Amino acid sequence: MTEVIAVRTVDEGDPGLRRAAEVLCSGGLVAFPTETVYGLGANGLDGRAVARIFAAKGRPADNPLILHVASEEEAARLVEEFPAEAARLAAAFWPGPLTLVLRRRPHLPPAISAGLPTVAVRIPAHPVALGLIRAAGVPVAAPSANISGRPSPTTAAHVLADLEGAIDLILDAGPTAVGLESTVVDLSGGRPRLLRPGGVTVEALRAVLGEDRLILGPGDATRPASPGMKYRHYAPEAPLTLFLGDPASTAAAIAARMREAAAAGRRAAALVHTEALSAVGGAGLALDLGPRTAPEEAARRLFALLRRCNTEGVDAIFVQGPPEEGLGSAVLNRLYKAADGRIVHVGG
Ligand code: TXA
Ligand code: MG
Repeated sequence: MTEVIAVRTVDEGDPGLRRAAEVLCSGGLVAFPTETVYGLGANGLDGRAVARIFAAKGRPADNPLILHVASEEEAARLVEEFPAEAARLAAAFWPGPLTLVLRRRPHLPPAISAGLPTVAVRIPAHPVALGLIRAAGVPVAAPSANISGRPSPTTAAHVLADLEGAIDLILDAGPTAVGLESTVVDLSGGRPRLLRPGGVTVEALRAVLGEDRLILGPGDATRPASPGMKYRHYAPEAPLTLFLGDPASTAAAIAARMREAAAAGRRAAALVHTEALSAVGGAGLALDLGPRTAPEEAARRLFALLRRCNTEGVDAIFVQGPPEEGLGSAVLNRLYKAADGRIVHVGG
């Protein structure tokens, strides 16, 4: 049985938080909100509890987990050293959607790091997450609370849809604010390296580190390499095709594919910016990514819209790529993964 508790306050004595902390401390699994996505938490110092996370998600054992803490002092206790650039990033972005990969201390369960000499750490900005970590008094290991391969959950209902019966408790505090996972930066090898774009933009990292300091993963910002990034991810059930190019050309190309699908008796969904909704509507399901000028809206909505495509049972999904800047780059990264090679370039 999976219990769901709505958390309305984050007072010390909140019964929901106290109950969740008890479950964590006795080796159980608790899904909880962060500002990015819902996480699936276990006591990060308890190897058996950590193993339950991998089992519940069907997660490959070579994909390491993030430890969530409530203060920099706690983060420092998990790692061999906290280099000066890590401290500058932490000062700028913690609490917040930034994960730092650092050299790990030996007392941590090996499964946390999937055998690597490093550990990923972050201080989340959500008051419920911070309250839970403080109430439990241990670092909380938490990947996104979805079945491996599916879109990350941005509501408690998404968590239930994937993990009902497989976990002990869900703390429900409504939809998450950022909607995409944290940015992962590796500081274990000298120069900072971007492993996964996310809630903190590359532009913001560069503003703190200096323009030329950050190494992007192999290739470019949209194809970085964290162990987790090699697996199929964010996959809706219907094939997803990503359209790249100027907004008028992508809207026209998607509208044409929607009409083609309808003529063939198939139902397609278009995920497009608000400005293109009327152009693609009429021949299928038109879903709104938000205004083109507001990539934070696309970030907030993307995973819920991909899940909606599953529940609507569409046969095909056509997506208009957001501009490749700011949070738009992180949205594009997730869309590349979801498209699994189905990319169409249109226009100039
Ligand atoms: O926003 C987030 O990061 C959410 C919330 C719950 O905090 N968590 C999350 O966790 O997205 P997960 O497990 O779905 O993604 C963690 C990513 C994976 O790509 C994983 O491979 C990478 O971080 N990672 C974890 N530990 C690492 C390490 N030691 N070295 C390199 N990459 C690591
Ligand atoms: Mg994940």
